[in-house]
Amino acid sequence: MASQEVPPRLMRAIEVNLVESTESVLANGFSRIQAEVDDAFDAFLPVPEDTRARLVEAMRYAAIGGGKRVRPLLVAATADLFGVDRHAAVRAGCAVESIHVYSLIHDDLPCMDDDDLRHGKPTLHKAFDEATAVLAGDSLHALAFEILSDHATSSDPFTRSELIATLAGASGMNGMAGGQMMDIAADEQEYDLHSITRLQQLKTGALLAASVEMGAVLGKVPVEGRAHLRAYARDIGLAFQIADDLLDHEGDESKAGKALRKDDEQGKQTFVTLMGPDGARDQARALVEQAVGHLSQHGKEAALLSELARFIVERDR
Ligand code: IPE
Ligand code: IPE
Ligand code: MG
Ligand code: MG
Ligand code: MG
Repeated sequence: MASQEVPPRLMRAIEVNLVESTESVLANGFSRIQAEVDDAFDAFLPVPEDTRARLVEAMRYAAIGGGKRVRPLLVAATADLFGVDRHAAVRAGCAVESIHVYSLIHDDLPCMDDDDLRHGKPTLHKAFDEATAVLAGDSLHALAFEILSDHATSSDPFTRSELIATLAGASGMNGMAGGQMMDIAADEQEYDLHSITRLQQLKTGALLAASVEMGAVLGKVPVEGRAHLRAYARDIGLAFQIADDLLDHEGDESKAGKALRKDDEQGKQTFVTLMGPDGARDQARALVEQAVGHLSQHGKEAALLSELARFIVERDR
């Protein structure tokens, strides 16, 4: 045996270890950020002793526990590449999550998707009432920018301003809300592949892309140095919504914690309606491989971002 050859049994042991270590990178990444985000929302949302208490209880009901926290994990994992202070990364992650949680509260309202179940419990308007759900969404929207504009997120006013601009751009008409409008209009208008891609990129991709961008902003990475991260984010953003649409088509409600098989019934147009489930799955997997390829200039410090990309398409919730 040549000295550089590794015996097959040892090779298998190395492979098993590698699989275990990448799994634990992801599992540890998720459990750490989930605890941090829950703690941060708990601190951001003290219940006042007046008649606003119901509003803040509702915000806490939606924001604490439940979500996977993919967006905060993206912020933190990107920020980690550039040695950003963890506290700053968690605050920026909470800001994106605050927009995301608000978008889900409004998405579930009777005037939108009309859903009764989210994170395995009644949606906010079912547990409280519609007016409270609208106001809780509004207040979480505002909270996101309160967090980013606070000195505690960054002592540098340029960084704070860039964080705010990035998240604002991804939330409004050129981002999530614009995509939600296109989604609603989908039952009146036939979309082609190009339009569906645009819809998904706005509705879901924009906030995921903003998460990666905000990690780079905190790391003070110049715009020229962000191109590969933007390419990674664009690919996972699209893959993420394809995976959500596949979940709706063939997932298990008890794992997903939300009602499924609704997209067809509500006349939604998705990659699944356009390409069929197998075509959509192939597309999502190809996007993820492409996304991981964009990280090639980094070493093992980007393992969490690669694993997160893979999780995004294979997830069951
Ligand atoms: C669900 O997002 C809605 C979409 C944008 C597809 P997530 O799957 O990230 O929701 P939670 O926060 O983990 O429940
Ligand atoms: C919602 O997409 C995207 C948002 C901007 C909230 P969906 O309507 O497909 O999300 P789910 O399936 O209800 O989580
Ligand atoms: Mg919707
Ligand atoms: Mg919905
Ligand atoms: Mg869905």
